[in-house]
Amino acid sequence: MLQVSDVMLTGRRALVTGAGQGIGEGIALGLASFGADVAALDINEQTAERTAARIRELGRKSSALCVDVRDARALEAALERAWDELGGLDIVVSNAGIATHKPAVEFEDDEFDEQVALNLKPAFVAARWAARRWIPSDSGGNIVNVATTEGIRGCPGFAPYSAAKAGMINLTKTLSSELGPYGIRVNAIAPDYTPTPGLGHIDLEGKTPGEMMRGMTRFIPLRRLGSADDMAGAVIFLVSGLASWISGQTLVIDGGSLACARVEGPLPFPELR
Ligand SMILES: NC(=O)c1ccc[n+]([C@@H]2O[C@H](COP(=O)([O-])OP(=O)(O)OC[C@H]3O[C@@H](n4cnc5c(N)ncnc54)[C@H](O)[C@@H]3O)[C@@H](O)[C@H]2O)c1
Repeated sequence: MLQVSDVMLTGRRALVTGAGQGIGEGIALGLASFGADVAALDINEQTAERTAARIRELGRKSSALCVDVRDARALEAALERAWDELGGLDIVVSNAGIATHKPAVEFEDDEFDEQVALNLKPAFVAARWAARRWIPSDSGGNIVNVATTEGIRGCPGFAPYSAAKAGMINLTKTLSSELGPYGIRVNAIAPDYTPTPGLGHIDLEGKTPGEMMRGMTRFIPLRRLGSADDMAGAVIFLVSGLASWISGQTLVIDGGSLACARVEGPLPFPELR
């Protein structure tokens, strides 16, 4: 019979990338609230430190790791450090990511590569590092990748980002197939409209993403935007004992939007220059 304790993460150790703000910060704090010790990794040292301090205020262990996840060797070294400082790692959440918005025909090669280097490859590097540790020790483990609904449906203006996140969703399925026999579960979440500080750089017809998103709430069945806590709740579920037979899945967290056909596109079509 299931116990309430099955949802708790007491004694588990996690690392979250992009934990300095937004969804990653919410996931890191959520995991800590449910009992995990959590390393907060971010390219921004100050915000990583801020999240780590908040985790410690919750009574959990934490360390701040200032790393650019696009640097594979630095990411591996940070995972190693978190492992040493927390006495191991059981959960790795690849969340760091940024979307670039413009018409597909205006993206140059290096800009496309950059989106893949940030939004796809680090999830592979982190999962590979963790699996190489977990397989020999027969410990099992949990990986959660933060994808997006734009990796499931098309989204005008976000061609490289959508493609990279679609790759992340398939990476999740493929890794879950390979690593399942070792007790390693690999899942993803696909958030939809969630106002976060990092979206401020995208300009949509003169509106900020937050303003644009608020205008979209009428198309969301649950009639509100997402929050970092909505995403954290899904991640906690996926890494908890409640989800012990769930692997290879991408849990869509979108207030019901993908389940209903919309007559209007989710975002305006970007204008060609
Ligand atoms: N906000 C949304 O509506 C939404 C929707 C779907 C998916 N997502 C995904 O959720 C994740 C988090 O998005 P967010 O909205 O919280 O963004 P955000 O920009 O607010 O936060 C991203 C964090 O990642 C860090 N980061 C960026 N580049 C990094 C790098 N190279 N190395 C290490 N850290 C880096 C940033 O410093 C920041 O703290 C992203 O992967 C994004 O694609 C967001």
